[in-house]
Amino acid sequence: MTTTPMTPQPAPAPTAAARFALRGDLLDFGDEPAWGDVASPAVRYRPDHWLLVDGGRITGVQPDAPDASWERHDHRGRLVMPGFIDTHVHMPQLDNIASYGTELLDWLNNYTFPAETRFADPERSRAGAELFADALLANGTTSAVVFATAHKVSADAMFEAARTRGMRLVTGKVLQDRHSPDGLRDDVMQAERDCTDLIRRWHGRDRLAYAVTVRFAPTSTPEQLAMAGALCRSDASLYMQTHVAENRDEVRWVRTLFPDARSYLGVYADAGLLHARSVLAHGIWLDDEDRAALHASGAQIAHSPSSNLFLGSGLFDWTAMNAAGARVSLASDVGGGTSLSMIRTMAEAYKVQALRGERLTAWVALHAATRGAAEALQLDAEIGSFEAGCTADVCVWDWAAEPVAQRRMEVAQGLHERVFAFITLADDRNLVAAYVAGTPRHVRDVRDSRDPSP
Ligand code: GUN
Ligand code: ZN
Repeated sequence: MTTTPMTPQPAPAPTAAARFALRGDLLDFGDEPAWGDVASPAVRYRPDHWLLVDGGRITGVQPDAPDASWERHDHRGRLVMPGFIDTHVHMPQLDNIASYGTELLDWLNNYTFPAETRFADPERSRAGAELFADALLANGTTSAVVFATAHKVSADAMFEAARTRGMRLVTGKVLQDRHSPDGLRDDVMQAERDCTDLIRRWHGRDRLAYAVTVRFAPTSTPEQLAMAGALCRSDASLYMQTHVAENRDEVRWVRTLFPDARSYLGVYADAGLLHARSVLAHGIWLDDEDRAALHASGAQIAHSPSSNLFLGSGLFDWTAMNAAGARVSLASDVGGGTSLSMIRTMAEAYKVQALRGERLTAWVALHAATRGAAEALQLDAEIGSFEAGCTADVCVWDWAAEPVAQRRMEVAQGLHERVFAFITLADDRNLVAAYVAGTPRHVRDVRDSRDPSP
């Protein structure tokens, strides 16, 4: 395998040419890679190719430079991939990321609920959503499924921040009408009015979609879960997001709150919340019947490894999910998770599987953060790959950001070894540029000390 010089070209200026061609080592997926297959035919690696972008959409890939009518962005020697999709992350929790010493239920009460209460203030919501959207882009995440807070203004702020950046984003106001502090509880009637109004104003506008957002079963009354289910039934294009079976104390609590349900997942199924547009975070403490129900419904588990490690929640059984044919995507789950970087998330996912005696290939990990997530969200015609017609959400990465990684790249044998070393060693420092619908929305500061240009 040839080696690649580090950071050879300056990043492009943040302008949006209608028609441009991006040169680099293009990596995406044509199909789903099989578990454990390091030589997967699903991988599409096209080194030193040109990605053609016209009117914000990908129009093709070719080995030769296009004619002079195309503006050229020369990223020779860099890795170019579809923007990452983070399928579960909390906008307000940048305020309590990296909080010490607790498992889930105490972490919620001690840190998370107090932080989220502040988002009743429209200015806090606006500033928080702007910071969050910029931080996603600075990590190469161009699409996300996002929890706002129980406050309607926080969902408005998140939609607006995504809209002004042209991002494909799914979010919703959190439903929680019990077991939550003052200032963070809603009630069924008001919550229904808020959801209906938010759906009317945002769902399907530009690249935005609404998710009926149930925090988790313990913080919603059966009446509120029924209301959420009715909302889902009223419009099959709505998403649903929640948490399931993350922590053992949580699972025990759900059993006492819903004694008639077959399982924690069954609580959601009974309420009409389990469907092909459902995104359920964690899913660590599930059984075979739950996994079969996930498969049958088409719902996905948003696997959140850095959160599961940080909060000591448990080791997700990805192979059992795979065997059941249930969909799995990757998620940062910040602020339970410790980084917005989907690359760091992949590295943590590898370690979780290693602790289970399994090995996660770079291909399964990358697919779960790109095309796999897009398919699970029924958005693969728009995001997650370099298929012609997809929106040009594209990120350019340095293969190595510092001398240790550079040395590792120089001695890597074969593509999987090289890409695995990349996902193990890289982070936001490697990101050169993030394009959203063909517009550069994050460009690394050219005064960066690692970049030779002034
Ligand atoms: N369960 C209910 N709410 C939350 C949350 O905010 N984060 C995580 N990780 N789990 C939850
Ligand atoms: Zn979460």
